[in-house]
Amino acid sequence: MNMELIVSLCKRRGFIFQSSEIYGGLGSCWDYGPLGVELKNNVKRAWWRDNVQLRPDMVGLDASILMHPRVWKASGHLDHFTDPMVDCRACQRRFRADTLDDAPWVHYCPATKGNKFEVPAGEPCLHCGARRTLCPACGKGELTEPRQFNLMFKTFMGPVEDEAAVTYLRPETAQGIFVNFDNVLQSMRLKLPFGVAQIGKSFRNEITPGNFIFRTREFEQMEIEYFVNPNDTIGGRPADEAWHERWIEDRLAWYRRYGLRPENLRLREHEKDELAHYAKRTADIEYHFPIGWSELEGIANRTDYDLKQHAEWSGKSLTYFDEERKTHVVPYVIEPSAGADRSLLAFLVDAYREEEVRGEKRVVLRFHRELAPIRIAVLPLLKKRAEIVETAHAIRSRLARRWVTVYDDTAAIGRLYRRQDEVGTPYSVTVDVQTVGDPARAEVGDQKVTIRDRDSMEQIRVPIDTLESVLGRLFEGDSWERVAAGSARAEGSG
Ligand code: GAP
Repeated sequence: MNMELIVSLCKRRGFIFQSSEIYGGLGSCWDYGPLGVELKNNVKRAWWRDNVQLRPDMVGLDASILMHPRVWKASGHLDHFTDPMVDCRACQRRFRADTLDDAPWVHYCPATKGNKFEVPAGEPCLHCGARRTLCPACGKGELTEPRQFNLMFKTFMGPVEDEAAVTYLRPETAQGIFVNFDNVLQSMRLKLPFGVAQIGKSFRNEITPGNFIFRTREFEQMEIEYFVNPNDTIGGRPADEAWHERWIEDRLAWYRRYGLRPENLRLREHEKDELAHYAKRTADIEYHFPIGWSELEGIANRTDYDLKQHAEWSGKSLTYFDEERKTHVVPYVIEPSAGADRSLLAFLVDAYREEEVRGEKRVVLRFHRELAPIRIAVLPLLKKRAEIVETAHAIRSRLARRWVTVYDDTAAIGRLYRRQDEVGTPYSVTVDVQTVGDPARAEVGDQKVTIRDRDSMEQIRVPIDTLESVLGRLFEGDSWERVAAGSARAEGSG
């Protein structure tokens, strides 16, 4: 599996397009097409339902992207949210200094009359002993000393572009939650522990974005700030540490529940020297992307750092009154922080399969039924028979009230099934001659349709009257085998 395969499928089938493509594209910016927006909405909806609506200890928030500039001074982003950057003196390209050793490098070796070699990651040239002090792109220019580059996008509020008008596009959604801590606490009369969740856009002027939607300059985060009383203990352990463990387990289970294969998921603890300036402990959930094991979500214990910083810089108290101990405390924060785009990429990559069916290749996206961008396709077997087409349209309209349902009659049935497989549609419903009968021969139809299962390619025949309830059972999680056992198997599969 390589990323090009996914990028090409995404473009061909309307998931993701390069931004501003007709103008030559804008680096690292991507647009979600008709199927991409459905898939992304489904990922966000599943996250919101499971982490906010189904939990008694969680509430939601939607804060603005532009915030008071002092927020970023207090949070530490103005001073610390930097990456070390080096420039090539020859081709002027820029690179992150801390990742230079991660990849092989191209070297024009002076000891071999300028012959070009690819030197393995982190190693010196075998011939001249040079280490990577040369540009990883052109291989010729010397690199400058690293200097710190702030990743926040600067902009101006209002018509005057001077220092007083400077503000920033938020680089994380988290700060919108911290500055609203007291508003949410008071308005919702919450008791610790509780969490506030938010989904929204974040912006980072990454030095080296890339790998499709894995690292972009504009992306969407799904973040939780879970506030815990630091004086509490759970099973003899500080409550913040116990909740940190619980969230790590919960978040791993969430990815598995929506179909990511366990062998493609792992946890990675941050070493002390890589912890963010606010973190006591961070564990990353990593996914085995086509580019290798990489971060999907970070789960940090941010302690009381942010609330204390904002209290100090704003002059407003951001504490919680502990009724039991009759004292004000600054809660600790556990932060499960996921990327919506990165999650979508993981679900796409994990769902992708190439199978052989009767000697032919079938590409299928085995999406979890709740994530699939199209849930049902209604397909007429013959588009020249008006009764078949009308019945199929009527079924589509009825089902579309509950699920994203499409109608397609632009090819023969076998090809229509393959097209739906390739975008991961879990069920297709076919209307045929038997359904509607043939008035010319005074034959009445049986008013039954065929449901085809994407994964097994099996088919069952059910009365139109029961179609919605059968599909309802399937979408609520009843297995195909059980539903099929109670229905008539239809002939054929494909
Ligand atoms: N509030 C904590 C925070 O923002 P982070 O590890 O920098 O932590 C959290 O980001 C998640 O946001 C990452 O695990 C990733 O899924 C996503 N993310 C971060 N930078 C990204 C980028 N440039 N492009 C796409 N997703 C990104």
